[in-house]
Amino acid sequence: MVRFEIRYRDACGRLGILETRHGKVETPALLPVINPNKLLISPKEMGKLFGTKIIITNAYIIYKHEDLKERALTEGIHELLDFKGVIMTDSGTFQSYVYGDIDVKPREILEFQREIGSDIGTILDVFVLPDDDHEEARKKVRETIKRAREAVDAKGEMLLACTIQGGKHEDLREECAKEMSKLDADVFPIGGVVPLMEKQLYRELAKAIVHTKMHLDPSKPVHLFGAGHPITFPLAVALGCDLLDSAAYAKYASDDRMIFPWGTEKLSELEEIPCHCPICEEISANELKKMEKEERERAIAMHNLYVSFSEMKRVREAIRRGNLWELVEEKSASNPLLMDALDFLREEKIVKWMEKFEPISKPSAFFYTSKFSLYRPIVYRYRKRLMERFVPKSRVKLVPEVEKPYSRHYRGLWKKFDGDVLVLSPFGPVPLALDEIYPIAQSVFPEKVEKDGCMDLLKRFMDKYKITEEEKYLEKGKDVDFERVKAVVDFQFGKGVSEVLLNGKVDIVKSERTEKIRNVYCDGKHVLSMRAHDGLFTLKPAGAKKLMRAYPPLRFRVVVEDEAVPFIKEGKNVFAKFVVDCDPELRPYDECIIVTKSDEYIAVGRCLLNREEMLSFNYGIAVKTREI
Ligand code: GUN
Ligand code: ZN
Repeated sequence: MVRFEIRYRDACGRLGILETRHGKVETPALLPVINPNKLLISPKEMGKLFGTKIIITNAYIIYKHEDLKERALTEGIHELLDFKGVIMTDSGTFQSYVYGDIDVKPREILEFQREIGSDIGTILDVFVLPDDDHEEARKKVRETIKRAREAVDAKGEMLLACTIQGGKHEDLREECAKEMSKLDADVFPIGGVVPLMEKQLYRELAKAIVHTKMHLDPSKPVHLFGAGHPITFPLAVALGCDLLDSAAYAKYASDDRMIFPWGTEKLSELEEIPCHCPICEEISANELKKMEKEERERAIAMHNLYVSFSEMKRVREAIRRGNLWELVEEKSASNPLLMDALDFLREEKIVKWMEKFEPISKPSAFFYTSKFSLYRPIVYRYRKRLMERFVPKSRVKLVPEVEKPYSRHYRGLWKKFDGDVLVLSPFGPVPLALDEIYPIAQSVFPEKVEKDGCMDLLKRFMDKYKITEEEKYLEKGKDVDFERVKAVVDFQFGKGVSEVLLNGKVDIVKSERTEKIRNVYCDGKHVLSMRAHDGLFTLKPAGAKKLMRAYPPLRFRVVVEDEAVPFIKEGKNVFAKFVVDCDPELRPYDECIIVTKSDEYIAVGRCLLNREEMLSFNYGIAVKTREI
């Protein structure tokens, strides 16, 4: 069984830890492709210079080379490549794609990978070409699945990568992903995508990834075969790829092309090199041009790797900070073809799938960075919840946007108006009661922005509740703090939940300094605390117990095995392998109630995984326990 766990997440991207016989690797990781015939830069050097902990090489090339084969079999692959980290091997599928037939049997090359001590070996999958028709692609997919089944029996201690093929056929990607997920595979590469990347068909690439990921066991790491250029890293990772390999650094270097975060440039066309990597610090464009071919190739390959590894750091940092979507959109501004991928990701069916993996709140503000920003899953979620969970009064007053938080400006009006005050924000209409939640308050927009979908949402909202726009003011004023607490509870936990949680005498305690809501008591019991940074609630044990009395399982709950109970009662986190079941509505970073199999309260916590993931993962943390 592969040991893989999620530590942080953003979009469908995961920052995880993959454990192997040769150590742990932080994902998403870049695997430089090592050509065993041509060590332009040795793996050891890569380890030293870039901190590379994982590389990928080709077992078929080694197998076909008498001397290399002999040495690999006697010394092992780690000795042969002089690398102590993790080594993944590919099988020869790509050679069959490039050169036509290859003369090795699937079983033979799999056993060879095992015998030379590869940490992650790959099946000899059958490459489905983008142009393969359904009939042809289906044959190849069925053969690939058959080979994967046979490979499972032969993998031994080696982790096994079972490639998902299917070409452009959605149903075949689905079939392949589902069948492979049933097997004892450890890594799922997405195959057959190199031609898409070479032609920059990024919409097709996004489709291949999404149509695969949607049906794949989410607990296993996913590899993208031939991701190559760093411009695709944020997109691939945002869609859930954990391992990306790059042969591009060497391939481009061999014809004097330099990789940059925004694209590729020919050395011959550069006057200056816009880079500060150790190579470019030392050498000018002119000096580089004058170098001997061999030396130049190595220098450019080095530069290409510096840039690629640095871009991967950016991606990982973006996951930690929660601004991976901003990074994806930034890349699309450097290459319009990437916009075709973002355009595909706007489709309702796709956003709906992505929303299940999207964190409830993030450390960074929502930055509007392109016309695709308002199609991110978090916006979809806001709009959906506004429609389904916010019950308005029958009368509204529509007001323009002002500086955030809106309620500071409109508080007087809000108190007096006998209805709901709705701010026309780019996210859609925002009732003042919801103006402090993530990402409404934590967002940055330019002054003028196309409010895609905002007016349409407003109309649907008004029609649904038969609301009219009319002015009527109260004599006495209303309790807007209570209104806020109610609205946020319903938005966060579900329609009508506030009536259960706040069904007694409610006391709201505010911060004296900021005047923001801090704690909420109901009949003297502390049920909720509001977080200042995202305006959402933390559930307290008294609140959790109230919810449990009112709502049957599995609502809000994560059910754990008996053996885990004593540990959780000591405040330990909930490991995924002990989760029996949970509420399908829970999202990453949602509040939840941890219970026993007989539905007894244990603790409150914060989910790291959604239901699908909690049930699939056998490793790592599922819920961070907060309070007993
Ligand atoms: N390298 C690039 N694409 C592929 C693929 O589809 N399968 C395998 N095994 N290796 C690849
Ligand atoms: Zn450089």
